[in-house]
Amino acid sequence: MNHNIVILGSQWGDEGKGKVVDFLTDKADAVVRFQGGHNAGHTLVINGEVTKLRLIPSGILHEGVKSFIGNGVVVSLEALHAEMDELLARNVPVFERLRISEACPLVLPVHVALDEAREAALGEHKIGTTKRGIGPAYEDKIARRAIRIGDLAHPEKLKAKLTNLLDLHNFTLQNYYKVDVHFDLEETYASLLHYAKTILPMITDVSAELNAIRVNKGKIIFEGAQGTLLDIDHGTYPFVTSSNTISGTVASGAGFGPCYIDAVIGITKAYSTRVGSGAYPTELFDEIGEHLGVKGCEFGTVTGRKRRTGWLDLVALRRAIEINSITSICLTKLDVLDGLTEIKVCVAYELDGKEVSYPPYDNADYLRCKPIYKTLKGWSEETFKQTDYNKLPQAARDYVRFVEQTLNVPIDIISTGPERNQNVIVKNIF
Ligand code: GDP
Ligand code: IMO
Ligand code: MG
Repeated sequence: MNHNIVILGSQWGDEGKGKVVDFLTDKADAVVRFQGGHNAGHTLVINGEVTKLRLIPSGILHEGVKSFIGNGVVVSLEALHAEMDELLARNVPVFERLRISEACPLVLPVHVALDEAREAALGEHKIGTTKRGIGPAYEDKIARRAIRIGDLAHPEKLKAKLTNLLDLHNFTLQNYYKVDVHFDLEETYASLLHYAKTILPMITDVSAELNAIRVNKGKIIFEGAQGTLLDIDHGTYPFVTSSNTISGTVASGAGFGPCYIDAVIGITKAYSTRVGSGAYPTELFDEIGEHLGVKGCEFGTVTGRKRRTGWLDLVALRRAIEINSITSICLTKLDVLDGLTEIKVCVAYELDGKEVSYPPYDNADYLRCKPIYKTLKGWSEETFKQTDYNKLPQAARDYVRFVEQTLNVPIDIISTGPERNQNVIVKNIF
């Protein structure tokens, strides 16, 4: 039986991770975020009520389940507070359920300004970030000057670190980026001390708590943010996010040993979407792309941006399956394909006249890749809300089977709508 599972995005994010984590939390004791920050936007729909989560794990609505933010997550105290307030207003006992690692680096307003300044400086070559300050916050972590949540307990040390950090970043903003801003030390310091009052009591040793749950044979879900093709190392660099998004990051981002992971579930949209810039060989610019966007409600949870849409890309997915050691796929949004007469799936790329079966690491090479498609039959019946595999149209089952066979990975869950219970469970994961 699986006890500790990772649920992550196998494409470019927004695959439906939040929905799947929420419904699987039913059987879990803890849900853990291990990377990313409030650039993530995970949507849950329960009896028509929509909950959008950015930093808080998608298990938070379940009674008796612990939620953890691991050390690999960069935390904006402002964003965390806003999210907690939204949940508290709906009587979700966040203080009872949520615990945070003291090793989380903070995302400060100055990081947002840097993110914006860098994007502006890049002009038409911009990454298309969420402008939440995620990249600059991770840069400070790697440069070993980040302010971490634990620093909030030591006001003098906090002030000294903040002084250095603001000196550096104010200088860069004003002199390199020529932006007329100044982040005031006393103001930033006071705001951190204000947030400290609520955050400090929520601190815990996440690694030790997870280990205790594991030893007691509890069940843990590690909830990924973003997607594999946005990974800082394995994604379409430089058009990526600033963290590692792959399953290996659970070990470093939550302090949970890799051998304790029993299964890795790759959340995979039945087509594909991408927000922001970067290579995307299967992108559609026609009315089918438009149709997928409208029917799939493909607008960013965080920024409201229109998502780019395209066909399913098995080349990119092959990489995702291997580097994450994906043990099974959860195929989401199958219902969005309802009504199409034919459906294309990218099975290889053509690069400079040669066929390739893995995405190239070089962005310029990736941009020259042309998709080679296999065309499958569509279906006119509805899969929306369907929970019985045998009641799916034959063509939909053939589609699922084709993906499984080409990738050689089972599809254990098929999601057929945004609601918690709109799923075909082929095989129980827990
Ligand atoms: P995440 O970032 O991976 O958690 O995904 P998002 O929440 O950003 O985007 C997924 C969107 O699709 C959300 O609006 C979900 O409510 C919705 N969704 C998830 N699964 C399904 C599904 O199977 N069918 C449909 N139609 N919508 C879904
Ligand atoms: P979830 O968890 C989709 C994208 C941004 C941009 C790039 C870098 O909801 O799947 P960043 O702000 O991280 O520096 O932006 O990454 N991006 C996402 N795209 N879903 C997300 O999260 C994303 N988080 C970041 O659009 O292209
Ligand atoms: Mg999202």
